Amino acid sequence: MNFLSCLLVFLATAAAAAVSDLLKHDARSGTASISGTNFGYYYTFSAEDGDAVTYTNLDDSDYSIQWKENSGYFIGGKGWNPGSAESVFSTPQVFIASPDGTSSSSIYGWSTDPLVEYRIVESLASAIDPVLGLTLQGTVNSDGSVYNIYKSQRVNATSIMGTSTFSQYWSIRQSARTNGFVTIANHFNAWATVGMPLGELGYQIVATEGHGGSGSVEVYIGSKPAGPPTQLTSGRVQCVAEYGQCGGQGYTGATCCVTDTTCVVSNQFFSHCMA
Ligand SMILES: *[C@@H]1O[C@H](CO)[C@@H](O)[C@H](O)[C@H]1NC(C)=O
Repeated sequence: MNFLSCLLVFLATAAAAAVSDLLKHDARSGTASISGTNFGYYYTFSAEDGDAVTYTNLDDSDYSIQWKENSGYFIGGKGWNPGSAESVFSTPQVFIASPDGTSSSSIYGWSTDPLVEYRIVESLASAIDPVLGLTLQGTVNSDGSVYNIYKSQRVNATSIMGTSTFSQYWSIRQSARTNGFVTIANHFNAWATVGMPLGELGYQIVATEGHGGSGSVEVYIGSKPAGPPTQLTSGRVQCVAEYGQCGGQGYTGATCCVTDTTCVVSNQFFSHCMA
């Protein structure tokens, strides 16, 4: 497909997206680029080869993506616009990807001023290492694993501000998982301490990305089926303020602490958030 026909497809699907927002389920095989609001969640999807990848908005915060053999690059997901440092529970119910391609599940978003594309990568099945050759900037221990922190740069690439040169921030979980509670603030804070600040947050999604191979994913964002405590209907989790309880035998409330505090064990029955 040449550039002009790509652009025409893009313009046609942008117009179709506004109409499809009214639909509960809008399977969109052949779509190259869409975004909008569905059940109150921001969603966005784009694919190099729209015929090979199908993004479907499901009820509430859920979505699914199927990609066929040798699909080009795609990214899609649901989340919020703007994003925030509040924690997210994400539950891909099914994540099946062939080993010949690259696919990942991440919290993906943007900031402006500075312009940054960031990813907290929860699982990465990769034929090609996306951070090959990059220098480790640091690590952060969060939600049961160490994450490696990397920084890279894109020159004259597509961004939320049009074609620009911008930084990419990465936290890549060492022990991959397909679902769980992601304390986003831990990553934002860790990045800031190694000279990787974010500016004003743009959109933020629980993303599935892929390139090549084939696969399918269905993602729930929120408390289904048995999410973490104190689940808000938005899929965000309200973290505990300083001095509040965040753990202990029999405790069923939130286990994350607000920014600049951590959950400290007092005894078997009581942990609390301390600065
Ligand atoms: C990026 O864009 C600038 C401004 O148009 C141009 O001067 C520069 O050569 C481009 N760099 C690359 C690597 O394409």
